[in-house]
Amino acid sequence: MGDQFVISSELFNDIQLDSEKCNNGRILSKFRYQLPKDKESFLAIKRKRLYEDKENINENEDRNNENKTHNVIEIEYSRESTLDLVGLQIWRGALLLADYLFHHRNELCDKQVLELGAGVGLTSIAAAMYAMRVICTDVNLGGILKLIQDNVNRNRKITKNAVKVLELNFEKKVHCSEVEVYIRRTDIFLAADVIYFDNLTDAFVATLDRVLARSKKPGAVAYVALEKRSAFSTDTDAIPPSFQYFLDKSSKMKWNIENIKLDFPQYFEYDRNKKLVLLKITRIQDKLKEEQTDLQN
Ligand SMILES: C[S@@+](CC[C@H](N)C(=O)[O-])C[C@H]1O[C@@H](n2cnc3c(N)ncnc32)[C@H](O)[C@@H]1O
Repeated sequence: MGDQFVISSELFNDIQLDSEKCNNGRILSKFRYQLPKDKESFLAIKRKRLYEDKENINENEDRNNENKTHNVIEIEYSRESTLDLVGLQIWRGALLLADYLFHHRNELCDKQVLELGAGVGLTSIAAAMYAMRVICTDVNLGGILKLIQDNVNRNRKITKNAVKVLELNFEKKVHCSEVEVYIRRTDIFLAADVIYFDNLTDAFVATLDRVLARSKKPGAVAYVALEKRSAFSTDTDAIPPSFQYFLDKSSKMKWNIENIKLDFPQYFEYDRNKKLVLLKITRIQDKLKEEQTDLQN
């Protein structure tokens, strides 16, 4: 399959979005979500943020937002792309991860999150509603980092100063010193829909293992969401080759992998179908380290 093969995310079949066309040919859409019910914790979490910016929290505005049944994240993206630039679109895995973060919102206020292969940044922006700090990364290709930054700025009311956009390329073993520092401080790594080409999977698995090993946070964990598909074809194999390849690769790693049941609430609008998978991954050594720390305490 050549790079000129044009594809379009399945997500766009699921939902009717309130959208407008931008001058650059991209689309600006409002992705609706239903706020979790315990709304007072949303304010409490914002107050607690260790990295709170100087801007005062406008409580009246927040209360008004909380009273609405639906809230939106505004995202600029491409409706289709060539294979090398699929990050300019949005994939279902991004929304599945955002749902999972919302479900675990009360555990996020003192956590630093780092997203790998973040695409247009929707999951990171959702994470920024609750997490102390979010590092949103991708490969610097096709203007994607600028697009993420624009999307972060567009949702400033949600993101405040919690999101930092930086390059992290899976093909590189060492990243710029700023990224390396953030990796060491990260509690939760995220990745949505980055498993579709075996070469990229090799680089991703190696990157995930390295970042988990480099994090100094006890219990550092990764959540990996994906839709089981055959390299963006309509093939409906039970286990497509790209996912099987990931399973084979990851079985050789010193990882503990848990398949998370998708029975948590759905806050975003998309088709949460049976091909979606959410994995929780920890390094076995890290788990031992954590147990030893627990014993010492
Ligand atoms: C299918 S998109 C998923 C984007 C987003 N996570 C989502 O679910 O909407 C795959 C992502 O992997 C990123 N990616 C591809 N090659 C990469 C590399 N070498 N290093 C880091 N990210 C890469 C792409 O730029 C893109 O953002």
